[in-house]
Amino acid sequence: MYTLGNLAALAFVGVASAQSTVGFGPAFSLGPTQSWIREANTTLVLPETPSPQKDRLALWPGMGTSGGDLIQALAVSFADPDANCGAKSGQWCVWASTLQGEQLGGKEVPASAGDEITMHYKFNDDTSKYDQTVFVNGEAVSTLSTSSGQAQGWGTAVECQDDSCDATTAAHEYLDTTIILNAADSTFADTLALTEATSSGLKTNDNKVYTVSSIKIQSHTYDL
Ligand SMILES: *[C@@H]1O[C@H](CO)[C@@H](O)[C@H](O)[C@H]1NC(C)=O
Repeated sequence: MYTLGNLAALAFVGVASAQSTVGFGPAFSLGPTQSWIREANTTLVLPETPSPQKDRLALWPGMGTSGGDLIQALAVSFADPDANCGAKSGQWCVWASTLQGEQLGGKEVPASAGDEITMHYKFNDDTSKYDQTVFVNGEAVSTLSTSSGQAQGWGTAVECQDDSCDATTAAHEYLDTTIILNAADSTFADTLALTEATSSGLKTNDNKVYTVSSIKIQSHTYDL
């Protein structure tokens, strides 16, 4: 089964630093599929950042790939939001990102609690890359395209690093998640694993296009 452990092995690397502590909280996790994921779309409604903000707390929906990459658009709470993306205190930084040995990223922009962050990943047949686009309240703000192989699973993560690993993360929600496989896979739904999270139900008519209208991630307190 594609567990949180697989994603944890491919954690958000942080910004120009070697983090020593990494922890994972709640998750909604799907995969691996016997096919591969062509497209995934979801909208994260940002909660309040932890208070005080410390380095680093990341929320992300990620796709582990056959190339060993982690496609993971990020929402990160930093101790110094201004230095990272020009954000004010209490804001997140959001951006398109792929962990490919190093952390590749598009433009980082500020976003606030209540903002709707749409994270769209789509395989581009012309380039064989995954094109990522991150939208804040419907406006495209950050893009990235990476040669990553084929995506095998999709899952959400709440990841603490270093000083944030004694913090409490607020409950939050992912809306209108759609995952489109290359070919029908009747086993995909059975791979669903929920950790401190609930789902409105994974739906499909053809075992190829899967939708979840609401994923609710519970509050979590780290003690690392
Ligand atoms: C992704 O989801 C958002 C929010 O539901 C929606 O507005 C947008 O059209 C979707 N994009 C694609 C390409 O499916």
